[in-house]
Amino acid sequence: MSLKQRIPLLRWSVWRMAVGARSFFTTGQFGDGREAAAVAYVLEHARPGDIDDVLATIDRFAYEKSLLINIGDEKGPLLDAAVRRADPKLALELGTYCGYSALRIARSAPGAKVYSVELSEANAANARQIWAHAGVADQITCVVGTIGDGGHTLDALASEHGFAPGALDFLFLDHEKSVYLTDLLSILDRGWLRTGAIVVADNVKVPGAPKYREYMRRQQGTLWQTVEHKAHLEYQRMLPDLVLESEYLGS
Ligand SMILES: C[S@@+](CC[C@H](N)C(=O)[O-])C[C@H]1O[C@@H](n2cnc3c(N)ncnc32)[C@H](O)[C@@H]1O
Repeated sequence: MSLKQRIPLLRWSVWRMAVGARSFFTTGQFGDGREAAAVAYVLEHARPGDIDDVLATIDRFAYEKSLLINIGDEKGPLLDAAVRRADPKLALELGTYCGYSALRIARSAPGAKVYSVELSEANAANARQIWAHAGVADQITCVVGTIGDGGHTLDALASEHGFAPGALDFLFLDHEKSVYLTDLLSILDRGWLRTGAIVVADNVKVPGAPKYREYMRRQQGTLWQTVEHKAHLEYQRMLPDLVLESEYLGS
């Protein structure tokens, strides 16, 4: 790993993210075209129908071209292992971005139907191109919306996509950090999680989801059994991060 890859502040694309932070919160993109460039790079360089190569190509783009906020190659294997542990038929992620983590979920659970909720239509369109290139367009569906949009997206998942009490085996939280807990509670209210379902939350240390972490600590051994995995923020080795993996003990 090069110095630039270990120390993110040496990369222009990291500084550019700070400039684009405002754009990110409203559009889900950093405003410099990096997400569209990542799609073009994948379509040009990754072998069609080869999920491993598509993921490796996205990682290469994030290291060598422009930083992306995917879960990445260090924390990704934690996600893969949690998916295999849940052995899901139905998986849901919140926060699609370019479709990288949904691809990892689909690869680890080839028999599962994977849904990804994303607020940005532009990100959904990008991810769909990447999934089609990887050959898993039939397995992954992006639903544009948010869990906090007054029930619209939750109702769509229930009425159009078969989400029902006890049907959800795996949930990945990787969207707006301040709503991890409220969105989890909304999903719990619907009763979708089955006993033994696994919930993974990325970026619990950086940018940070303290209310979510505190909730999981309070519920340890009663409603949830949580393991905190130490890692680093994506695509560098300077800033530490935490991935939480929680088993649902309720019914
Ligand atoms: C960190 S990125 C997701 C990365 C992706 N999970 C991966 O690892 O490949 C966060 C994404 O969540 C989206 N987002 C932000 N707030 C959201 C919300 N309330 N509901 C759904 N998506 C949201 C952003 O537009 C952005 O695409």
